[in-house]
Amino acid sequence: DTGYFTYDPGFTSTGSCESTITYIDGDKGILRHRGYAIDDLAEKADFLEVCYLLIYGELPNKAERDKFSADITMHTMVHEQMRNFYNGFRRDAHPMAIMCGSVGAMSAFYHDSTDISDPNQRLISAYRLIAKMPTIAAMAYKYSIGQPFQYPNNALSYSENFLAMMFGVPCEKYNVNPVLAKAMDRILILHADHEQNASTSTVRLAGSSGANPFACIAAGIASLWGPAHGGANEAVLKMLKQIGDVKNIPDFVNKAKDKNDPFRLMGFGHRVYKNYDPRAKVMQQTCHEVLKELNVQDPLLDVAQELERIAREDEYFVEKKLYPNVDFYSGIIFKAMGIPESMFTVLFAVARTVGWIAQWKEMIEDPSQKIGRPRQLFTGDVEREFKEVQNR
Ligand code: SDX
Repeated sequence: DTGYFTYDPGFTSTGSCESTITYIDGDKGILRHRGYAIDDLAEKADFLEVCYLLIYGELPNKAERDKFSADITMHTMVHEQMRNFYNGFRRDAHPMAIMCGSVGAMSAFYHDSTDISDPNQRLISAYRLIAKMPTIAAMAYKYSIGQPFQYPNNALSYSENFLAMMFGVPCEKYNVNPVLAKAMDRILILHADHEQNASTSTVRLAGSSGANPFACIAAGIASLWGPAHGGANEAVLKMLKQIGDVKNIPDFVNKAKDKNDPFRLMGFGHRVYKNYDPRAKVMQQTCHEVLKELNVQDPLLDVAQELERIAREDEYFVEKKLYPNVDFYSGIIFKAMGIPESMFTVLFAVARTVGWIAQWKEMIEDPSQKIGRPRQLFTGDVEREFKEVQNR
């Protein structure tokens, strides 16, 4: 009892929860999914194996993995009428706006997987969302550049298929670069789940009312869009371009330290990590691999690495334990792959969908779960007498 309100034993109703999916030790920079370290998963597993792990709690054996992959592949196409949505958007609509609209609208098509009381429908909606997010995302990109939508290709892996739908065109065969497909797969793994972050908490809160999973994931996409959260990867690249040259870094670091200046170093700091974000390490290594494979010399990478070096030695950042997070290097990789900034957070949403839906499923299947009802500390006028307008 805090003197303000009694602690509610049914703590799920205050937005906090128990979970067995992801463990983070922010002080030690540890991230594990169902007990497996993110470094191991990023290096040794593929994204669909991690999806299986997050949903079922175990890494799949070969037969389980092949069946899961086949099941997901069978859901990669979207209802043909969903194509009509895109024509209703402006060509210059932000792709995250299209994702919010299109994913929410999936509940207008897939009525056979919106009954959350049915375990099979819960699973089918999870498979549909994991399978269709890359298709919906690639369609948003194609629409923005006036190119025809590309259908999924069942002969390709999840990440190969995503790249083919993004960059393939009907007039010629698209050859997927295996190094880029592996890099994309690893990036999806790094973004797959992250415990009770803002967007996952949004999905849980929306789902606690019994809303259908497509609507809940659309709510998660909306929350992820913010620059303090998933929108940071897009904001990092804008910041690196604004800095422009390593000689300008000290000025920006000073701006970030100035409490009167709203500027923050995008891609730095974290609500939980007070040590290096383990995902950022893998992302930086992937960044070097992709730029080497594509033979890209990006001066923004030089700016990013020098910014990290300077910030890591700066007393303010050391004292406040501010390190690069998952978003710091991802944008440089996406840029090298030819993905526009406006699509960076969309890729984060594609990856995070499995985390959202695994956490949603865990909550729905928890018999003690109640509708979410975060508490407040009321600090307003407790009671006042009404005044007629002439007396106000
Ligand atoms: C993601 O929660 C998750 O798990 C999210 C995520 C996921 O996978 O779902 O990890 C993904 O959202 C990563 C974060 C991406 N956002 C950014 O990179 C935006 C830039 N970062 C900041 O906006 C900030 O670090 C936050 C929003 C991420 C965290 O902000 P907090 O909660 O204020 O961080 P804090 O409490 O640790 O801050 C301690 C101090 C504060 O100053 P004081 O009040 O002590 O004086 O450090 C300051 C902050 O103002 N600070 C920064 C800073 N981040 C924090 N100062 C300058 N630059 C920064 N980037």
